[in-house]
Amino acid sequence: MRMTTLSLLSILPFIGSALGGTACKPGATTAASVIGVGAVATDGSAGVTAATEPTGNSINPDSGLPSTAASTTAGGISAVATDAASSTGAGSASVPVNTPAAPSVIPSTLELKEPSKKECGCGYNVSAFGGFYMPYRFAFDFSTVEDKDFTGPDDLLEYGFRINKGHHVGGPSSTGTSETGESEPINQCLGDPSSVSFNNGSLLLTMKANQVLSGEMKCPEVIHNNSTLYGIFQSEIQLTDTPGTCQAMWLNHTDSAAWGDELDIEVIGGAILSPNAQKTPPGLYSSNWDPMGDPNFPLDSTKLPHTFGKDGNKQPDPFPSDPTGDFQKFAIAWLPGDYSPRYYNGKEIGSPKQYNAIHPQELSINNWSNGSPGWSAGPPTQDSKMRVRSVLFYYRTEEQQDLIQGCKLEDICEV
Ligand SMILES: *[C@@H]1O[C@H](CO)[C@@H](O)[C@H](O)[C@H]1NC(C)=O
Ligand SMILES: *[C@@H]1O[C@H](CO)[C@@H](O)[C@H](O)[C@H]1NC(C)=O
Ligand SMILES: *[C@@H]1O[C@H](CO)[C@@H](O)[C@H](O)[C@H]1NC(C)=O
Ligand SMILES: *[C@@H]1O[C@H](CO)[C@@H](O)[C@H](O)[C@H]1NC(C)=O
Ligand SMILES: *[C@@H]1O[C@H](CO)[C@@H](O)[C@H](O)[C@H]1NC(C)=O
Ligand SMILES: *[C@@H]1O[C@H](CO)[C@@H](O)[C@H](O)[C@H]1NC(C)=O
Repeated sequence: MRMTTLSLLSILPFIGSALGGTACKPGATTAASVIGVGAVATDGSAGVTAATEPTGNSINPDSGLPSTAASTTAGGISAVATDAASSTGAGSASVPVNTPAAPSVIPSTLELKEPSKKECGCGYNVSAFGGFYMPYRFAFDFSTVEDKDFTGPDDLLEYGFRINKGHHVGGPSSTGTSETGESEPINQCLGDPSSVSFNNGSLLLTMKANQVLSGEMKCPEVIHNNSTLYGIFQSEIQLTDTPGTCQAMWLNHTDSAAWGDELDIEVIGGAILSPNAQKTPPGLYSSNWDPMGDPNFPLDSTKLPHTFGKDGNKQPDPFPSDPTGDFQKFAIAWLPGDYSPRYYNGKEIGSPKQYNAIHPQELSINNWSNGSPGWSAGPPTQDSKMRVRSVLFYYRTEEQQDLIQGCKLEDICEV
């Protein structure tokens, strides 16, 4: 297969400088709480009972559920992954020492039920994964919002997301030097808030038509503004088969200096149900990037390797239905252990068991091009319009792997 999967690569510091410093960090947002209409971002503070018993700081290895201190003195696995984000550079970065237990069950079909209780400040027992504990939930339904255009990176913060402005979206097409040593252009997209809008009951991510292939094309990307450490991330998305973009829901590490760690679901416009003009095989691409990969060499597969497809077979999974006519559910279940399955409409799709993510990650959704013929191709000659109707995330954070302090097992909501 002739494929150059330049997909969602971490930016090279030297690409940033080659572009005259156009790349900038996306994280510079102002603090605000989630107050969006209908935005549910349970923060663990509601409905928590007073701390009357010892906090369970261990994960029961059998169920993944937090267990009480008493029941885990013997055999309890300490869920510590505390130092992953304190790194400062690829050379000096520290890595998580202990990982929590993987779930007892990896289902081939994923159904996330409505919470069993009204107040869920003590977190969730995700029954699909044998009762895997997630302290937080974030849900938003874009069908409840009025049409609106955006102009700035903070315009979606009240709904829980940053909008990428000026930082690269997806990967660059080149390092700037060809295989034969000639200099060549670095084509890429930069985040553009005006390519994001609320439209007809969905979040619309448009890569605008007729852009000139360059290092400063404009593309949409939204990023859930919460650093997570494991989670189940599901979105209802309507894709487009307009050729010339890569449409992705993916997790990117939050350490800007050190890691190439990513978990992706990507789809190439024009290669949804059948190959595109460039003969890219059609379907759903689930890829994992080496969590210890060196982001200074994003185009060098020996320094920043990745894998995709079922057991890393480097094959996309065919779509079982047309994802362009209506909204479909896409999910990434990022779990401790070797395997983070992806789901399409609740059915497991071929996903790799190598390079599972280990550093804190943020969920992003984007629609981009770098003109690379073996991958995104493009840029598109027609507006490429991707729509997101809703998102539903259950997640842990670096700080909160275990049962929320002051909570009892019976306070947990089942989903
Ligand atoms: C967004 O994240 C930044 C840090 O990453 C934080 O300072 C800010 O409070 C967050 N905003 C919201 C709305 O959560
Ligand atoms: C969590 O879910 C599992 C599987 O559905 C169930 O067996 C268990 O009783 C639940 N535990 C709690 C505390 O809700
Ligand atoms: C981010 O996580 C914190 C808890 O760590 C929570 O209070 C907040 O609501 C979350 N925000 C979103 C957008 O999920
Ligand atoms: C608006 O959304 C509705 C419901 O999803 C859909 O039936 C209709 O075709 C959409 N209209 C346009 C102009 O996209
Ligand atoms: C992933 O996030 C880091 C910041 O933590 C950023 O430097 C990097 O460019 C992002 N990767 C991509 C492919 O957008
Ligand atoms: C991505 O952009 C293309 C070109 O504007 C559009 O046709 C497509 O619908 C967009 N995809 C998503 C998922 O927003």
